Amino acid sequence: MTAKQIIDTYISFFQKRGHRQIGNSPLVPENDPTTLFTSSGMQPLIPYLLGEPHPAGSRLVNAQNCFRAVDIEEVGDNRHSTFFRMLGNWSLGDYFKSQEIPWLFELLTEGFGLPKEKLYVTVFNGFKNIERDNDSYGIWSELVSKDRIFFAGVDKNWWSRSGIPENMPVGEIGGPDTEVYYRFDDVEHKPQCKDNPVECECGKFLEIANSVFIQYQKTEQGFIELPQKNVDFGGGVERLLAAIEDRSDIFQTSLFTPIINSIEQESGKAYLKNKKEMRIIADHLTAAVFITNSGIKPSNKDQGYILRRLLRRSFDNFYLLKGENIRAVVEKIVDQYIPTDEYLKVNFEEIELTILEEEQNYGRTLQKAKSFIENKYEERLIDGVKKISAQDAFILYSTHGLSPTQIRSLGYVFDEQEFADKMEDHQKLSRTGAQQKFRGGLADHSDLTIMGHTATHLLHQALRSKFGEQLHQTGSNITSERIRFDFNFDRMLTPEEIKQIENTVNDKIGEDLPVHFEIMPLTKAKQIGAIGLFDEKYQQDVKVYFIGHPGEKFYSVEFCGGPHVNFTGQLKKFKIIKVENIGKGQKRIYAKVNDQI
Ligand code: SER
Repeated sequence: MTAKQIIDTYISFFQKRGHRQIGNSPLVPENDPTTLFTSSGMQPLIPYLLGEPHPAGSRLVNAQNCFRAVDIEEVGDNRHSTFFRMLGNWSLGDYFKSQEIPWLFELLTEGFGLPKEKLYVTVFNGFKNIERDNDSYGIWSELVSKDRIFFAGVDKNWWSRSGIPENMPVGEIGGPDTEVYYRFDDVEHKPQCKDNPVECECGKFLEIANSVFIQYQKTEQGFIELPQKNVDFGGGVERLLAAIEDRSDIFQTSLFTPIINSIEQESGKAYLKNKKEMRIIADHLTAAVFITNSGIKPSNKDQGYILRRLLRRSFDNFYLLKGENIRAVVEKIVDQYIPTDEYLKVNFEEIELTILEEEQNYGRTLQKAKSFIENKYEERLIDGVKKISAQDAFILYSTHGLSPTQIRSLGYVFDEQEFADKMEDHQKLSRTGAQQKFRGGLADHSDLTIMGHTATHLLHQALRSKFGEQLHQTGSNITSERIRFDFNFDRMLTPEEIKQIENTVNDKIGEDLPVHFEIMPLTKAKQIGAIGLFDEKYQQDVKVYFIGHPGEKFYSVEFCGGPHVNFTGQLKKFKIIKVENIGKGQKRIYAKVNDQI
């Protein structure tokens, strides 16, 4: 079975059971200030798990491209990758455990042909006033032998975007889960491992499926039940492929082998002797291809910074193996993913160019770093002494962007402990910054954020009314502090034009127009001229928001998941804070509403 066949089998299995396929959301989420990347299939569905009706109904299925930056340091073993495709099926208050578990078992054993005796299951053991999941245990005991079912606590069998209950911010949703593991016979346990998936960390048991029962929301007072009981299933394609091919190393499956072969060829080294380096190159470059495909460029900020880090780690490891032509590896990665992600073909040149430009930039950075050290240590270096101070090594890291490994390849020696202490202080500081930046799990649902969504529709329409229908949104990001809106426009707006746009939006706020939505077939939405970003490929029914009085011509008609205010008057006032050029004929507006001003 190929990765594509796994995806197709899964989607049609659930379609036959009444699920509608929904699109693969962008890897870089729009309008979600709480995270830099889409890291699970459920992330774009949060409003619907909370109770908002989904236009495609209460049974959904998809394959979602995901990226998990938290796993960067884990890559190098037999099973971790930062980029992966997650198969997902959801019940939004529809079916529950007694339906989900038998379906999953049928899918794994009959759909994917996995031998029943190699499957192990874990079930939630209870936590505070949330009971042990005896229901799931009972259902599983009818399907697999009881000696392969294990109970575990919140650290293993509880799922939320922020992990265990105590890490969840108020407002966040989650619940107990039940997981399925595949057992590999060729992996030897480490001495500290026990022979079950809960107490083993050597990779003998691979988690291939996770059904989360999202039924709780955290409040100041503790957990409350959500109005509906949801199922949120997730299974990684790369890991399922490893189980189906009985390969305990995901990098030796039919998906990764051609990529690893190309690294072997370009470096003249063997995978079996250089596993860690080659796994990092294969995973990080794959992630970089998909992040670049989302329009991100390497930079020192946010997603661009993560992309830069992935690329530079790939280059470091590639050069360590004396690899010469990284372009060949990038080409092989794109080849391998085209069957499932056809658009890579169209964007290939841009992706390749971005990666190769960063390689050149990195080359220049290395040169500058060398000159900085050579100028400073001139005499001692001439004497052949390459010892530099931990402070200078840290400058190479923080200012020149070199990783500690790269500093050592350049042949510099420094006090490792002092350097590690400096790194720790630095990381503490950036963690505090990041927490402030991404604080509050559901900040995007605060009143101000909801107002921001409505203001974005008014701004979009005001721009189109003034400059014409060819102008459209190319991106947006809304936080409880401000709105950011990107659109295509060749020249800079004049101060008068900016004022006019601001006035138009304020007029519409003054008119206190009603806002409502309707769910309709995509064809109808297009017929009535709805604007906005939407995924044409899968969606049949879409949600469309109308601003204006029903019966009269609407001011704005736009595709959107919502939520929105009920009347534009709730926005009180609108102010444009900044307009900037973001390149490639695109402009960006920062604006505020109501109490943000
Ligand atoms: N949200 C769960 C996960 O990411 C299941 O989809 O594992």
